[in-house]
Amino acid sequence: MNLYSRLQEELNLAKTNKVYNVIKILATAQSDVVKINDQQFLNMCSNNYLGFANDAITVKAVKEGIDLFGVGPGAVRTISGSYSIHEEFEQRLAKFKKVESTIVVQSGFQANTGLIPTITTEEDLIISDELNHASIIDGIRLSKASREVYKHCDMEDLHRILAKNADKVKGNIFIITDAVFSMDGDIAPLPEINRLAKKYHAYTIADDAHGEGVLGNNGEGTIAHFGLEGKIDIEIGTLSKAFGLVGGFICGKASLIEYLKQRSRVFLFSSSLPASFCYAGIKILDELEKSNHRIQALWDNTRYLQNKFIANGYSIGTTKTPITPFMVQEETIATDLTKVLFEHNILVSPIIYPTVPKGKARIRLMISSLHTKEELDRVYQIITSEYQKLKINKEENK
Ligand SMILES: Cc1ncc(COP(=O)(O)O)c(C=O)c1O
Repeated sequence: MNLYSRLQEELNLAKTNKVYNVIKILATAQSDVVKINDQQFLNMCSNNYLGFANDAITVKAVKEGIDLFGVGPGAVRTISGSYSIHEEFEQRLAKFKKVESTIVVQSGFQANTGLIPTITTEEDLIISDELNHASIIDGIRLSKASREVYKHCDMEDLHRILAKNADKVKGNIFIITDAVFSMDGDIAPLPEINRLAKKYHAYTIADDAHGEGVLGNNGEGTIAHFGLEGKIDIEIGTLSKAFGLVGGFICGKASLIEYLKQRSRVFLFSSSLPASFCYAGIKILDELEKSNHRIQALWDNTRYLQNKFIANGYSIGTTKTPITPFMVQEETIATDLTKVLFEHNILVSPIIYPTVPKGKARIRLMISSLHTKEELDRVYQIITSEYQKLKINKEENK
């Protein structure tokens, strides 16, 4: 079939199956409220956990950074795109994360695809949680290592795979997991993963995109939350969520980071993270280290909304973080509810098959420190009442 006919057919099918992504065009900066087509919408689908995306501190810092370093990096870091501020930020991140060294890259996605294939060989085995993020999956696909997938957070299954392979693998074994899972908001059992890794001499890699700025006293992340500093071999991070910027980073031993700077294709063949973002990243670290009031506000909001759902018998799955999956189970309810919420000027994202298994559809509500209690009350009231109406309709039409 002609390429464009095939693409069109798939697009049409996505529309028929109600899984076609209609991209909303925002007219204002990221905040608790955003404007679309001259109307205000309550924003419940942004990863702007701490409000840094449009915080005066961030905006000022990026502007100052641009004044100092200009806009584009001009080249990759090994040619002429590396500034002292890249190294300063990397050192500050290392101190914040309590690791030997870090390397910043252009995004969290690039961090995974820049790390995994670079450090693994055909003699290695990668063992990956079945619900890991797409960037981990793509990083594994780019690797020559063998791969196994363990059931989500299932330590018996991980143990089984480790025991089965321990004597067979000629190279190294890597266990890789999201630290916080972006669709369910649950936290990987890092202490158990670490224990099993040590038992089988495996290396652990944790992607903390949704944990940093959220968990740990000052937002140091999931590893600090468990008191596992220095025990997880490699950590992946992003600047695009709680940090309110764009960018990614990898944390680990100095020799690992030095190796990545020599060998990672993402570092060698893609222009560097803009220096202004490194400059702003340092200011955000200053803020996080100075006070955790944003993190407290985030958790206060999280408990407020999640307790309301739980107290009134609504399921929010297995979340342990501000990611709040309002479980509706049926795909059509999730897509219809998203539309109705849009009519009520509330922005949410429906998470449906194939992103999650069939029958586990949900509306993912992302809580931010910026939300007010009144806004959260409004979300609660409208989502629950509209969900009930849709359920009754569905029953009547059966
Ligand atoms: C676990 C995980 N890793 C990586 C990423 C990608 O991060 P970025 O948006 O910085 O590319 C995400 C973002 O959705 C994520 O949830």
